[in-house]
Amino acid sequence: MIQLRAFSEAELPIAITLHQLDTPEKIEKFRPRFEATGRWDDHYFNCAVDVDGVVVGEVQARHCPKSMPPGTAEMGLDLLPEFRGKGLGTRILHVLARKLFAEGYHRIAGSTDVTNIAMQRAFEKAGWKYEGTQRHLMPEGDDLPHDYRMYAITKFDDFPEVSVE
Ligand SMILES: CC(C)(COP(=O)(O)OP(=O)(O)OC[C@H]1O[C@@H](n2cnc3c(N)ncnc32)[C@H](O)[C@@H]1OP(=O)(O)O)[C@@H](O)C(=O)NCCC(=O)NCCS
Repeated sequence: MIQLRAFSEAELPIAITLHQLDTPEKIEKFRPRFEATGRWDDHYFNCAVDVDGVVVGEVQARHCPKSMPPGTAEMGLDLLPEFRGKGLGTRILHVLARKLFAEGYHRIAGSTDVTNIAMQRAFEKAGWKYEGTQRHLMPEGDDLPHDYRMYAITKFDDFPEVSVE
């Protein structure tokens, strides 16, 4: 079963890996966010993704009341490398959307680099709709900033059957 929950203290190394925190200063700065996982804190909701008792990654949702309409959120998802490509991303998107809809949100949006085919496929398989491309969004060193494809699901959409067991 997939559960979205707080990280335990013993799971800090997993969160450090997921956030690619490579200095003690970065880890210290991350501490308050880590301790607030599993619940909304300010306008962030960061959770460990637990599959049958094993943490496989992290999911984030954001709602900024100053810049976003009521009832809308944006999300992000990162799985540890050993858990990718097994269909979990699709199922986690489904669980996250159901959870936020149950809390009163009506629209969840996410976006991904045009080269990230796995995330695009996961969005599509979970019933999220493609809504357009943001051009030259993400700086990429000396390359041109990458385009990002935007997806969203609303509680008024038809959901595909996605097993969450
Ligand atoms: C992106 C991510 C969340 C997707 O979750 P996942 O569990 O790996 O994805 P799923 O297994 O549910 O589905 C992936 C789909 O993409 C396909 N896929 C996976 N890797 C692929 C690749 N490199 N090229 C093409 N297709 C790929 C899979 O075959 C599957 O499609 P299918 O069922 O039609 O065969 C996960 O891979 C991840 O955490 N990646 C690293 C972090 C990241 O990119 N996060 C998103 C940032 S916006």
